[in-house]
Formats: sequence, C-alpha cells, structure tokens
Amino acid sequence: MAPDRLDFYDAELRAHHEHLRAAYGISRGEEIVDIGCGTGLTTREAARAAAPGRVVGVDVSARMLERAREPTAAEGLRNVTYELADAQTYRFDRERFDLAISRFGLMFFSDPVRAFANIASALRPQGRLAALVWQPRERNEWAVELDAAIGAAAEPPRPTADPFSLGDERATVRMLERAGLEAVRFEEVREPVLYGHDIEAALEIVCGFQETSFALARMSRDDATRAVDRLRETLERHHDHRQGIVFESRSWLITAQPA
Ligand SMILES: C[S@@+](CC[C@H](N)C(=O)[O-])C[C@H]1O[C@@H](n2cnc3c(N)ncnc32)[C@H](O)[C@@H]1O
Repeated sequence: MAPDRLDFYDAELRAHHEHLRAAYGISRGEEIVDIGCGTGLTTREAARAAAPGRVVGVDVSARMLERAREPTAAEGLRNVTYELADAQTYRFDRERFDLAISRFGLMFFSDPVRAFANIASALRPQGRLAALVWQPRERNEWAVELDAAIGAAAEPPRPTADPFSLGDERATVRMLERAGLEAVRFEEVREPVLYGHDIEAALEIVCGFQETSFALARMSRDDATRAVDRLRETLERHHDHRQGIVFESRSWLITAQPA
C-alpha cells in the first residue's frame, strides 16, 4: 500500500513537535490561530487544550483542510474552524487571538513582513506567537544528503517556495520586528527527522518531495533511475535498526509578542 504522505509527515516531525508543544503554554478559554495548519494535528491539539476557547486553522490548501476536517469531526471538536485563506492577506479580526501557532507553516509567504504584520494585528496586546521554522538548508542533513543524492544542489534555481527562507536568525528577527513584533526569541531545536523503518515507503515519500520530484522530472529516464538508486542508498545508509531511517536536522522555535 502506498504510504500516506500526511501521516508520514506527522511521524517525521514528532521530535521537533514536542518542543513546540512545550512552548504553546495554552490556557483554557484562549483563542488561537494556527497558521499554515495543514492537516490540523497542531490545530486539534490546541483545541483540546484551549476548549471552550476557539481555534482557527488557516491554510491555502483545500486538500490539506479537507484532510484536517475529518479527524476534527471524528473527535467531536466543536471549537475548531478552518479557513481556506492566505495568511498574508486574510482579514483577521483585529486583536482577536491570544496565541498564533505554526508548525513549519510560516516560510512560504511572498511578502513575509506584510504577512507577519497581518498576523501580529490579529493578536491581542498580551498575545504571543510560537512557531517552528527550519534553520538554513546546510544545517539540515536531510536536505543536504537528499540534494547530494539527486544532484539537485548543483541545480539552482529551486522550484517555488523555500522551506529554509526564515533560517537566517538575524534577518528573520529584523523581519519580525519590522512587522510589529517584539521580544523575539530563537531557540535551537536539534532533533532528528524520522522516516520510518520501510526503505521503499520512505523512498516513495522522498521522491514526492517538491524539490525531488521537480529535479527528477527534468532528468532523462536513465538519469532519474540512477538518482532514485542513489536516494535509496542514502536512506539505507541512514537506517538504524532501532530508530529506523534518521537524519539530523535543526529548526528554530520562535516566540514573540506584539510590540
Ligand atoms: C510544511 S506544511 C506544514 C503543515 C502543518 N503546519 C503541519 O505541521 O502539519 C506548510 C503548510 O503551510 C501552508 N501554507 C503555505 N503558504 C501559506 C499561506 N500563505 N497562508 C496559509 N497557509 C500557507 C501549506 O499549504 C501547508 O499546508
């Protein structure tokens, strides 16, 4: 059976996720927005902690939100709504939320200062932001090794959204401050990403990564076959019988408040 990409993603990130969960500090009754909520694992978690406070998950992907709604309804979480919207421009109610959270959903804005200003304006004066973003590509073994296997490192420009766009701590602090946030803190999270025990299942997922599939699609059939073989070898090299396929990775846990 084909591996489920979205369940795989939640499992891959579980070590990083624990740091974000610890940083939420959610109290009952709080109003929360989850930016780039995807399939809603963090949205549901926030909703359980904040009930009867309400949680809004915002995402630009209808497919992700469709997936998010199923487990939310199955769990009977009535304090969650999902909005199909671009968080950069969505007209949030001003000063509505106590907390904005995001798990790797902030790196894709075309105008990050505008987006962060929009999010900041939705926070109450005592509100807060807690988010995970990737550190730069070169500090993420998973990206470096997969790029090397496929030969993508030698192939700029990259396709579209850059998951490492907020990796430069100083530049991102400046951006957040320009957007009207203060008390900006960056905490290093150094945890593995976990790709499970099944090499072929992991390979299928990795071949579907945006950058990998883009690079493979531009190769001749023979070159693509050799690149996939190299990816498989890379996954095998990182397979340990106890933890499964493991790569080192580093993210930032960012916290901030409206100025
Ligand atoms: C890497 S995924 C993370 C999803 C989710 N936070 C999680 O951890 O499972 C990034 C998500 O951000 C969403 N996204 C990207 N740009 C966005 C934007 N401008 N506004 C809202 N969501 C956005 C994508 O559709 C995607 O679901």
